[in-house]
Amino acid sequence: MTESPAVECVAQPQARLGEGPCWHAGEGVLYWVDILGPCVRRFDPRTGEDMPVARFEERVGAVVPRTQGGFLVALENGMAFLDLPSGRLERLPPVDPRPTTRFNDGKCDPQGRFWAGTMDLGEKDPIGALYRIDPDGAAHCMTEGVAISNGLAWSADSRTLYYIDSPTRTVRAYDFNPETGAISAPRAALRLGEGDGFPDGMTIDAEGKLWVAQWGGACVSRWDPDTAERLARIEVPAPHTTSCCFGGPDFGDLYITSARVDLDEETLARFPLSGSLFRVRPGVCGGPSHTFTG
Ligand code: BGC
Ligand code: CA
Repeated sequence: MTESPAVECVAQPQARLGEGPCWHAGEGVLYWVDILGPCVRRFDPRTGEDMPVARFEERVGAVVPRTQGGFLVALENGMAFLDLPSGRLERLPPVDPRPTTRFNDGKCDPQGRFWAGTMDLGEKDPIGALYRIDPDGAAHCMTEGVAISNGLAWSADSRTLYYIDSPTRTVRAYDFNPETGAISAPRAALRLGEGDGFPDGMTIDAEGKLWVAQWGGACVSRWDPDTAERLARIEVPAPHTTSCCFGGPDFGDLYITSARVDLDEETLARFPLSGSLFRVRPGVCGGPSHTFTG
């Protein structure tokens, strides 16, 4: 494993549950969410300013830009289009209105469909599912029996989807059909150890290696999904690292989100940067975050 490069704290908003970083190449900024804020935030690396740009009355799991402008957000029960700076919401039909679940992490595939999954609010029962939202707005349930739906990433050739259901500690791989958006042949690509916390958000780099944020593990780690080998580990001064995404002019900056929720006073005193946004240059680049074509 390689030595850990230095992680920089770029914003300290004390997010309760920072998540879902998404690089907006057109604006040259990072959008991310505080699920329990609940708000969408925007970090501008030119000025160092990090601000909430939309606030909600319910939890927000993810935000992605639309190709035509504006954003798509995953709210508790389903999706909505978000206009900024007005903050106006246009809701799509609810996907999962049960009070026992909420939407969590989400991301667009390279073809511009949006994928997001639900989780058990009690964080234990497999009552959630992974959904695919097509550009026409139709929601398709892709897999069920998920407890905490989390990270998603696609291989550069669009032939493989990687997906995390956190309590399983496993990153699963599926065959992905880029034309139809169908998934098949689920198998375990890699598994975190007992002392590693839980895999949360994830991204992929230009070499096809996975970057996994470790909830309870105070790090992001780089994995070869073909050999299940851990290649690098970057320590983050926040026990609950939640997600990561490449950005910057050369896609060589890895942005890392973190959370304060579920940490006791003593741990927060030891890790006061919990809930911050971090950045590191790991020496490998990623690619653009995909936009929603609907
Ligand atoms: C969820 C949290 C959960 C964590 C555990 C996050 O994505 O939003 O509610 O505790 O994953 O892995
Ligand atoms: Ca997450």
